[in-house]
Amino acid sequence: MIELKTPQELAHMRRAGIVVAKMLEAASQAVAPGVKTKTLDQVAADVMTREGAQPAFKGYRGYPATICISINDEVVHGIPGDRVIRAGDVISIDAGAKVSGYYADAAVTVAVGPVPRASQRLIEITKDALAQGITRATLDHRLGDISHTVQEVVEGAGLSIVRDFVGHGIGRALHEDPPIPNFGLPHQGPRLKPGMVLAIEPMVTMGGWEVEVLADGWTAVTKDHSLAAHFEHTVAVTDHGPEILTHVGSLN
Ligand code: MF3
Ligand code: CO
Repeated sequence: MIELKTPQELAHMRRAGIVVAKMLEAASQAVAPGVKTKTLDQVAADVMTREGAQPAFKGYRGYPATICISINDEVVHGIPGDRVIRAGDVISIDAGAKVSGYYADAAVTVAVGPVPRASQRLIEITKDALAQGITRATLDHRLGDISHTVQEVVEGAGLSIVRDFVGHGIGRALHEDPPIPNFGLPHQGPRLKPGMVLAIEPMVTMGGWEVEVLADGWTAVTKDHSLAAHFEHTVAVTDHGPEILTHVGSLN
């Protein structure tokens, strides 16, 4: 069942969204060669605490950190630790937070210094796929229109959409109905209604779509070790159009 949020609930989610945006902004500004991924986690956690928010990911099914950092062939759910960021890396940062019992969730991908043109293009297409998908989050569309639009942008650019992980409804829980695949048929699925809040999150690779989870039980990598990118926004469906709750100034 897809929960419809009241205006009061949306107000809490807006606050959570702003915290998540600030966490992503701070963590991505701290990205530089020589920095450990656990330092980025600390930067994000400091912002979250200063803003009076609670972690969304830490403790979720035993996840041990505040954010996820997934580098190069890592797609999602990389655990921050002693790994050192290097020039040329492609870094996906996924952050969540809870305010007054309501969650927000978002992700960005950034390149460290100059990267090959194809890597920059992967990042741009993934970001654009999310942006195009969000334009379909209106009352005259169904969920499948979002999925289909994301898929069209990605596959139209010759890139692959990860299938084993999907977006999700969000609110009082980090993951609510409906699941939101980044592939699918137009005009299918539930009609979008005011008060639905959707975490839309394309995960895109330069090679095949197959992924596997490493021995740490979390880190998902591409099977062919091709480069991956991930963008995510928490988006409210309203009668005046999609409202992005996690907008980050220049990043997404
Ligand atoms: N954005 C990711 C998701 O929706 C974040 C979950 S990370 C976890 O699945 F650690 F909380 F699992
Ligand atoms: Co998510």
